[in-house]
Amino acid sequence: IKRVTTNTLQEMKNRGEKIAMLTAYDYSMAKIVDDAGIDVILVGDSASNVMAGHETTLPITLDQMIYHASSVVRGASRSLVVVDLPFGSYQGNSKEALNSAIRIMKEAGAHAVKIEGGIEIAESVSRILTAGIPVMGHLGLTPQSIYKFGTYTVRAKEEAEAQKLKEDALKLQELGCFGIVIEKIPAALAKEVTESLQIPTIGIGAGQDCSGQVLVIHDMLGINKGFRPRFLRQYASLYDVMNGAIKNYVSDVKARDFPNEKEQY
Ligand code: KIV
Ligand code: NA
Repeated sequence: IKRVTTNTLQEMKNRGEKIAMLTAYDYSMAKIVDDAGIDVILVGDSASNVMAGHETTLPITLDQMIYHASSVVRGASRSLVVVDLPFGSYQGNSKEALNSAIRIMKEAGAHAVKIEGGIEIAESVSRILTAGIPVMGHLGLTPQSIYKFGTYTVRAKEEAEAQKLKEDALKLQELGCFGIVIEKIPAALAKEVTESLQIPTIGIGAGQDCSGQVLVIHDMLGINKGFRPRFLRQYASLYDVMNGAIKNYVSDVKARDFPNEKEQY
């Protein structure tokens, strides 16, 4: 099978084929996602929430991201694997950003990294790119800045923030990013940004005019039962499926039904 590359994504954008991206954090899930024909697997720092149970993405470490990423890489034979640089591993110091990105590429075998922010992280983006590491941007609702925002609500509804987002997107493209995730912004702004760029945009809660879409796998599979924001389409109710299966197992064990004659040696 031919591996999806950053060039493949650019070609898809050029011919108007939408890019489908999902998160994964472990080998088994990555294999399911890859076999289903996803273009890009994101090892998101949302692992901090859905895998580790933290309230925000801030606590996850670079070592933990590398562990998740290396597991995903072993399960992905076709998809492009993009890995988030976690909070504290790139801000302010471009040398540290480069070192973090190199560790992700080298120790996990990832294919690209993703970083939150615009003009303020330009130096880090450039420096990572000089090492030949593809960089994806992330603008709009950037969850590592949740304590600055104070809320997970829609970003860039005001003109000033919308203007900055447009400038940041152009700057990231000019620096050499191969794509930009735009999270939770008005659909009209996402359309405008997408049309202003040559590189693809990947939306989450950013409407239908982005070059592609991304969702957190636990959310779209309904593993994360209570999480139902407007932008989320839930494709399965795996919480209920798994909960039901486990209840059946518990009752079979208690009832001495499992294991039966055929299920033993
Ligand atoms: O960490 C993550 O899952 C993400 C996506 C929501 C874009 O950054
Ligand atoms: Na993320």
